[in-house]
Amino acid sequence: MENCGAWADQVMEKIRKKIAWVSEKNREVIPYTTDADRNYDNRADQNRDWNQDDGLNWWTNGFWGGIQWLLYQDTREETYAETARISEYRLEACFEQFYGLHHDVGFMFLPTAVADYRLTGNPRSRRTALHAANLLAGRFNPAGRFIRAWNDAEDADRRGWAIIDCMMNICLLYWASEETRDPRFRQIAMMHADTAMEHFIRPDGSANHIVEFDPETGEEVRSHGGQGYAEGSSWTRGQGWAVYGFVLSFLHTGKQEYLDTAKRAAHYCMANIPESGLIPIDFRQPEEPALEDSCGACVIACGLLELANCVPEPEQDMYRRAAVKILKAIEENRADWSEDCDAIVQDCSGAYHDTSHHMTMVYADYYFIEAIYKIKKEGILLW
Ligand code: GLY
Repeated sequence: MENCGAWADQVMEKIRKKIAWVSEKNREVIPYTTDADRNYDNRADQNRDWNQDDGLNWWTNGFWGGIQWLLYQDTREETYAETARISEYRLEACFEQFYGLHHDVGFMFLPTAVADYRLTGNPRSRRTALHAANLLAGRFNPAGRFIRAWNDAEDADRRGWAIIDCMMNICLLYWASEETRDPRFRQIAMMHADTAMEHFIRPDGSANHIVEFDPETGEEVRSHGGQGYAEGSSWTRGQGWAVYGFVLSFLHTGKQEYLDTAKRAAHYCMANIPESGLIPIDFRQPEEPALEDSCGACVIACGLLELANCVPEPEQDMYRRAAVKILKAIEENRADWSEDCDAIVQDCSGAYHDTSHHMTMVYADYYFIEAIYKIKKEGILLW
């Protein structure tokens, strides 16, 4: 694609400059979002209750390490590896606490322990990552052939809940089988992916966020709107998890149906990308309020770029163009390159019905950076 490489080079220069000082400033923390002063918060703060979702067990706590490893593999500067390891080693304490852990051990330990092991061969990281993979495999429900997402909440029995996001987490299982030569992890991952193909992806390529199964019989009970607008709607970040997750399952297994499913999900996304390139929280939300999610945008872009690598020309170009349109919209309208804010990507939203929207989220920065490396055809795949 014309000029795209030159554009990506310029953006990468800005990323290197910004992440250099942001990492130095935040060596000791594990950030999720920025506070009122636009400084990063700290999910590893000892005063937080680790058994609560927003403490050390918070599902996004792997992305700070992931950003460091992305920059390390690019620059080979040891400082990034050191910062990554501070968060990686802190996360080990989650295993002792145990109760707060969930299926997002994939998001937590792939960009930290697995990345460390892949890049440096650190034996401590291998042990941590295998420990996490065993915990994830232990959440498998054989009757429904799905991985249970979350633990019960006071008001919710979630024994039978699976969510589309888990398509990213199962990469931890693929890695564990590749690493140990024990096929059980991959078998569980593929059974979950097969269930997701059947129960999450609708005929038009859009995806449910949550599907609830009977935990005893495995029968589907219903779907939930989850972080999207409503049941039957189309939470955009979930569409991104579907595109990227099925491409990754194809890459790890070679199963053609996963690639076909990723394409269906991708075409649904491409047909719904607004003219502005800025992505709403839900492709089926009402026009007003015009809520956005730049984080979902970056996830969709990563999925499309990885999909492009799996198909011949001219399909490749079609997916790349769609991804670049999204990323340019972020870079031109939603990126903060100044020293006034620790985060780059602005206007991210956790869920449609949250009380606050349009914040920063560390994993938006992570996926934005990953996407720019993908355009440059550089960098390792951490999934
Ligand atoms: N995995 C949860 C989310 O995307 O918000």
